[in-house]
Amino acid sequence: MDTYYKKKIAALLSEHLSLSDNEIIDLIGSPPKKDMGDYAFPCFTLAKVFKKSPQVIAQDLVSKLPTEPVFQSMEAMGPYINFYLNKSQFIKDVLQKVLTWTEEDFKSIAGGKTVVIDFSSPNIAKPFSIAHLRSTAIGNALAHIFDYIGYRVVRINHLGDWGTSFGKLIVAYKRWGDEKALSQAPIQYLLDLYVRFHKEVEEHGELEEEAKTWFKRLEDGNDEALVLWNRFKEESLKEFNRMYDVIGVSFDHYWGESFYQDKIDPVLKEIEDKKLLTESQGATIVDLETCDMPPLLLKKQDGATLYATRDLAAALYRWDQFHFDEMIYVVGGEQSLHFKQVFKVLEMMGHEWVEHCEHVGFGLIQFKDGKMSTRKGKIIFLEDVITKAKELALEKIKETEAEKSDDEASSDVDMDERALKIGVSSVIFSDLKNGRLKDVLFDWEEILNPRGETGIYLQYTHARLCGIIRKFETRIGPIEYTERGEMGSVTEEASFDIAKELSNFRDQVIYAAKTREPSVIARYLLNLAQAFSTYYRVYHVINEKDATLSQERILSVLAVKKVLADGLRLLGIEPMDRM
Ligand code: ARG
Repeated sequence: MDTYYKKKIAALLSEHLSLSDNEIIDLIGSPPKKDMGDYAFPCFTLAKVFKKSPQVIAQDLVSKLPTEPVFQSMEAMGPYINFYLNKSQFIKDVLQKVLTWTEEDFKSIAGGKTVVIDFSSPNIAKPFSIAHLRSTAIGNALAHIFDYIGYRVVRINHLGDWGTSFGKLIVAYKRWGDEKALSQAPIQYLLDLYVRFHKEVEEHGELEEEAKTWFKRLEDGNDEALVLWNRFKEESLKEFNRMYDVIGVSFDHYWGESFYQDKIDPVLKEIEDKKLLTESQGATIVDLETCDMPPLLLKKQDGATLYATRDLAAALYRWDQFHFDEMIYVVGGEQSLHFKQVFKVLEMMGHEWVEHCEHVGFGLIQFKDGKMSTRKGKIIFLEDVITKAKELALEKIKETEAEKSDDEASSDVDMDERALKIGVSSVIFSDLKNGRLKDVLFDWEEILNPRGETGIYLQYTHARLCGIIRKFETRIGPIEYTERGEMGSVTEEASFDIAKELSNFRDQVIYAAKTREPSVIARYLLNLAQAFSTYYRVYHVINEKDATLSQERILSVLAVKKVLADGLRLLGIEPMDRM
């Protein structure tokens, strides 16, 4: 919407300048202070052309501009021309737009392009750890954002269900395993076995070889190996799906690494045919020295394939299936070299579509005792994090509950459900609120602070907006949309601030998709909520005696609620109507 006004300015100015509309739009900025208007056009670059000072140019230009109803005034100020929006007109336009737009208005932005998103992708036989929450939360938000602007989104879970670690687990299970213990608490038990393997290997180095042999057997289709592996996988998927249900995430395909097992030989053959394969100390590699990268290892001495081999096969398969416009891998920053190598090899193979593949990295989630590692058994289960968030949320709910009258009071089940929703929203929001490349520091006090920059704060704001609307409808009556056309009298500064925030939504969604940054939406929603709080502190909506004004104000409430709800959904957070 912002663009709409910039275009108006361009139309006014282009008559008098030898710049294209787009060049003018690129120059337009926002003035540093409110009293300097809403848009500023700088005249510095024109000085050379007109051979006059930018100050004089600004004055000359302004005197030539015709009136334009969307602007209340246009003034030269030093080397700038400042444009002041006609506030009531602006508020009216924005509310009208927001309250009437439909999904279709946004869908046309990308117009049916296809994006493949590879995200979450936890490793089976390990718990769903907080480390995988980042990929899950960011990937899921991006999926919603792309979907919102009209992409066909393909969500792929590239489960880590293949590789030497399964050799290790098979060895551990065969040596120390116990069926009963496995069925009681499968994931914890498998984790314990894995940790035990790594302890024992320090003294019994031969275990490492044994594990390699078992993985090789698994790759060769050995029955005993397959039965165990399948068992581990089933248990893990049960656990993962339980977590996905809780946080509201779904996938179109669970194509884990093992899925590509029968698709690898043709890929290796293609690489060989293109004369890119090299033998190095018995292993099969693609040499990347000319590109200043270490070689990409495709097969070990014993013939076992690797993570990278499966990623090559996966990329080719996905291209074949979807002919995507973009493919995004939402994976931690520590794998950036891996993706550079994989993309490079695809390029060397002559697959031009690799241009549309992108690694979307992110920082670590940090805790007090440093980076987590499965091997030391210090892994933090997402489930435990959510349980704790829920408990804290329940405390907050009980506080508000104590202030409610009897007829508003909630049942325990109700409270429990709400606490879970608030807990999940808060955990997800804290993951998404900062630029994804930054590390996240998990701090419970901050995450569940109802007055902080948090998920719980946004949920409170949303529930409050819903509450105002409900009250309005019971006490005053239906909201009269027809009044919208007459909304001339709303010029309140705070309404204007809200309208300005609302008018940015569309551009922010596009920007979030372009930069692959859910944090753009997160920050936007915080600003919007803040603008609303300020508004609500100053103005009455329901208690306003002037009926017209009250009707006008509720429209702002309605519009903020609509955008806040949509924005939360874009982040993968289900907005709550009551707290
Ligand atoms: N399972 C991997 C891990 O946990 C992430 C997989 C990411 N996706 C991919 N196509 N490599 O580190």
